[in-house]
Amino acid sequence: MKIVNSIKELKAYLAEEKRNNKQVGFVPTMGALHDGHLSLVKCCVENNDVCVVSIFVNPTQFNDKHDLETYPRTLEKDCSLLEPVGCDYVFAPSVEEMYPEPDTRVFDFGLVSAVMEGARRPGHFNGVAQIVSKLFYAVEPDNAYFGEKDFQQIAVIRAMVEQLNIPVNIVACPILREEDGLAMSSRNVRLTPEQRQKAPLIARTLKESTTFAPEKSVQEVIDFVINTINADPVMRVEYYEIVDGYTLKSIQNWSDTTYPIGCITVYCGEVRLIDNMKY
Ligand code: PAF
Repeated sequence: MKIVNSIKELKAYLAEEKRNNKQVGFVPTMGALHDGHLSLVKCCVENNDVCVVSIFVNPTQFNDKHDLETYPRTLEKDCSLLEPVGCDYVFAPSVEEMYPEPDTRVFDFGLVSAVMEGARRPGHFNGVAQIVSKLFYAVEPDNAYFGEKDFQQIAVIRAMVEQLNIPVNIVACPILREEDGLAMSSRNVRLTPEQRQKAPLIARTLKESTTFAPEKSVQEVIDFVINTINADPVMRVEYYEIVDGYTLKSIQNWSDTTYPIGCITVYCGEVRLIDNMKY
């Protein structure tokens, strides 16, 4: 496994792979890798000749300076996890390498970037589109892998590659969960033992709501989820929406879509957790 810091060097290695007709798969990450990331890497390794993983904490997608400063940076440990699962190249650039000049591009992806996370984290998806497009230009992958925990991010990235005509196949991989149902996330390590014990309530409640969803109205299901989670004093739902999985438009009736997805953000103490579930 090679660890590469510059775009030029990465491009040189990958040009050689492509000359040999190798199919290139790519997993962009911000490091602090857990089993959820590794499941993306395994999928990438299985379905491509060459697997590239980027590790870059992207400053332009953080709307909270403190969050950026305290984001875990564990490059050495991450590399030790990536080698055994078959990653070929780790691309770990500096901020100067990715942003030699400020990126002033402002994207507009319409509804998919405006609702839910987009409404609560101004500039976040613009920053994601900036860095993911730059990474796609550097790697030029055939396939790129993203976790469905960040469901809206995948919709934004699909919109971005369409808008910028980037020829890459976006592959969405299922959420990996802890045994008690909690969606795997780099943020889970920030939970206190008490919060960690409470956090599975989110997935448990979503799952329970899927069992009676068709008989209850969309609004009744939303109320059930919000009230059940908020009944725990440690938890506070920021939003819960049931949307069409393609357009991310909120639905009022189950018949509004063939692909209903419930998307939730919950503060567990100070830790902001996101999750989603298909109905
Ligand atoms: O999902 C993430 O970890 C990040 O948003 C991504 C896609 C690596 C871009 O920085």
